[in-house]
Amino acid sequence: MCGIVGYIGNRQAYPILIKGLRRLEYRGYDSAGVALLNGALNVYKKKGKVNDLVNFIGDKNIKGNLGIGHTRWATHGAPDDINAHPHFSGSERLVIIHNGIIENYATIKSWLETKGHTFTSETDTEVLICLIEQIQKEGDLPIEDAVRIALTKVVGAYAIVVIDRLDPNKMVAARKSSPLVVGIGEEEFFVASDATPIVEYTNQVVYLDDNEIAIVSRENGLKVVNIQNEEVKIPIVHEIDMKIEAIEKGGYEYFMHKEIYEQPKTIDDCMRGRLSVQEGWARLGGLAQYKNKICNADRIIIVACGTSWHAGLIAEYLIEDLARIPVEVEYASEFRYRNPIISERDVVLAISQSGETADTLAALELAKKMGALTYGICNVVGSSIARATDAGSYIHAGPEIGVASTKAFTGQVTLLSLMALVLANERGTISSTQYQEYITELGQIPEKVNKALTSSDDEIRIISEKMKNADNALYLGRGYNFPVALEGALKLKEISYIHAEGYPAAEMKHGPIALIDENMPVVVIATNPSAHEKIMSNVQEVKARKGVVIAVVNEGDSEMKKIADYIIEIPSTLEPFTPLISVIPMQLLSYHIAVMRGCNVDQPRNLAKSVTVE
Ligand code: M6R
Repeated sequence: MCGIVGYIGNRQAYPILIKGLRRLEYRGYDSAGVALLNGALNVYKKKGKVNDLVNFIGDKNIKGNLGIGHTRWATHGAPDDINAHPHFSGSERLVIIHNGIIENYATIKSWLETKGHTFTSETDTEVLICLIEQIQKEGDLPIEDAVRIALTKVVGAYAIVVIDRLDPNKMVAARKSSPLVVGIGEEEFFVASDATPIVEYTNQVVYLDDNEIAIVSRENGLKVVNIQNEEVKIPIVHEIDMKIEAIEKGGYEYFMHKEIYEQPKTIDDCMRGRLSVQEGWARLGGLAQYKNKICNADRIIIVACGTSWHAGLIAEYLIEDLARIPVEVEYASEFRYRNPIISERDVVLAISQSGETADTLAALELAKKMGALTYGICNVVGSSIARATDAGSYIHAGPEIGVASTKAFTGQVTLLSLMALVLANERGTISSTQYQEYITELGQIPEKVNKALTSSDDEIRIISEKMKNADNALYLGRGYNFPVALEGALKLKEISYIHAEGYPAAEMKHGPIALIDENMPVVVIATNPSAHEKIMSNVQEVKARKGVVIAVVNEGDSEMKKIADYIIEIPSTLEPFTPLISVIPMQLLSYHIAVMRGCNVDQPRNLAKSVTVE
């Protein structure tokens, strides 16, 4: 959470910072601010979005070819002008932007108070910059040394950038458990939480590792040291392959809408080079080295959060069903605090779009410590989870900017379907005929998703009109579609603020049925053939209590038409792949309802795309 960006070079920093902040706004949008150095060190910050900041700045002095910017997701202190970043040190010589949490800030603050420091904000970040200033003053140190020594005293997570007004040719950045990328241009450098603010200026980047400090200066270029002040001799320069179109809306009103419609392509991209229908094989490069170990694992434990956790639940069905390896799916945030039993014979899969989710990263570190093989399934290339795991596969969905995850979910499920298929083939738990059937069907998924998008959209708009004023909604599914029900409910909650619950359809009668009356829309996902009859009975139970049933069915399901109030028809597929298609109406429904309710779909209240705090 929180997006940070910095620039040093020959251009004016302000437009680069503002454009960068707009790209990073998905990481937090409670307040935004910039600091610009042009002899004077000017700080402008404002509660609200980047647009509010730009309006506030108006025709103020924005000159400077060194500057930093921040878009905030509040942790310590309310989202207001004062707590917004950047934060000055007491003397206003130094200024900082920060993504993360300094856990021992209260102790440091008390110590600084004994030294005469006073604080204007409630943030942990202001405490950190005052600590840096205190250390700089006591030792008469250059800024990079003061930053490094200060960081040896803090506990927590951070990606920071610091500017010293008296050292105007330098910018110091550091990271621990929060992402930071340094972009290397021609006589110019960029730092940012991810590559999106950098990509149109350079494709050369260095990903900082934990406990590394980057000193970027006009005279000496980039120098990286670790917290013990040992120089990292040759930082590895990566070439990023990101197209500007991928991070722009391309004619759509919202990124979420664009990302929903990109799915036929992103699913295809995820399968490219991993599936050949003509030659009849599926493979995953990331698995190759550890295939034996995974095939013979005692258990596969999946750790993830939110939508990625739902993808994990689908993986449990897929891997147990096809490859017959026991799977457990854990909320990453709970896993590490319940003293889990993990052995060297377990494999831990971490699923994360951003690859930066703090809870998932921490669960992964625990699993590593306990000797398990770790495997990452991430979207963001070079992200912390991708780098911390023993092996892994990217889903290749391209940048996902809407806070509500859509194309990353189908990318994750596609990847996990491939994985289940590869493992099943290797273990001989499916016949070669079945293997070929699954391969052929997976090859058709992009086209079927495309059909689901185009054929259901009109009907979904009509249903959205009816559902938009509901206070509550229930989502029901069985088998492979139970996680889809959870995902449908999460999507509705997070972007339209309608309370929604996802339930296994048969569990409804053990409690939630009490909620059903004529005001309760019940979305029933009934596309998996093996559960069809049972789910028809569940629909009857809802109708008997006057609930309004919106049923998602396979094309031509005439039985459901007789009892449901609304029908959404989508193409059928083999049972293990049903979530890839049945989730499409869930995404569209929540999207249209949220737009009709006037919600900011890409930036729902209180949320951030990448949750880098516990
Ligand atoms: O980046 P990750 O996949 O690790 O993120 C996990 C969750 O924070 C994320 O899926 C969240 O639930 C989304 N807002 C769901 O749309």
